[in-house]
Amino acid sequence: MTQQFATADLFADEAPGFPDRDALAPGACILRGHARADELAIFAALESIVTRAPFRHLVTPGGFYMSVAMTNCGALGWVSDRRGYRYAAQDPDSGQPWPPMPAVFLELATRAAREAGYARFSPDACLINRYQPGARLTLHQDRNEHDLSQPIVSVSLGVPAMFLFGGLTRAEKQVRVGLMHGDVVVWGGQSRLCFHGVLPVKEATHPLTGNCRINLTFRNVR
Ligand code: SIN
Ligand code: FE2
Repeated sequence: MTQQFATADLFADEAPGFPDRDALAPGACILRGHARADELAIFAALESIVTRAPFRHLVTPGGFYMSVAMTNCGALGWVSDRRGYRYAAQDPDSGQPWPPMPAVFLELATRAAREAGYARFSPDACLINRYQPGARLTLHQDRNEHDLSQPIVSVSLGVPAMFLFGGLTRAEKQVRVGLMHGDVVVWGGQSRLCFHGVLPVKEATHPLTGNCRINLTFRNVR
């Protein structure tokens, strides 16, 4: 009996509600499977968001269409066009405000931030990325937000992807981390401006997303 209790204690971290955590860099970690408990509520909310603000391929300032399709919810949305990148309160396609951030998104993002050590995260923007097979995101920094003491919270859903996480310069070598359905990456503090990207997503299927990967990126912009 004593032995059984000892074993249960040893694995207490793996019980539901205590997801595995992988350190990534100073101020950055991966909360494995953290979003899985909310997956059905997340997809229900996502469906009504994309009805109002459909996924679209944005044009970069250089004139290329991005392979990742995007939309947003929350007070501000990330957009790109020939004039540059910026945050906007309206969806440029409809002229309407972005759909509000669903409670399940907000709670997931603030809980993940808290578990990663950022107790005061208050996201006002959620970029929603859809990766079809072959879609990728080149190495970049998230640097258009005002308060850099607030972290980035990034939720992976659907088919797996290889995430690249580097240093404060583009040249610095990146670590490669496989991100699965439900994994949440949080980076802030010393890692807030680290370069990151996503390798081309491979053909695969997931019961909730078909052949896509969906990523939710939460930020405090203003
Ligand atoms: C991003 O950097 O905006 C998204 C990262 C990801 O899709 O994992
Ligand atoms: Fe990013």
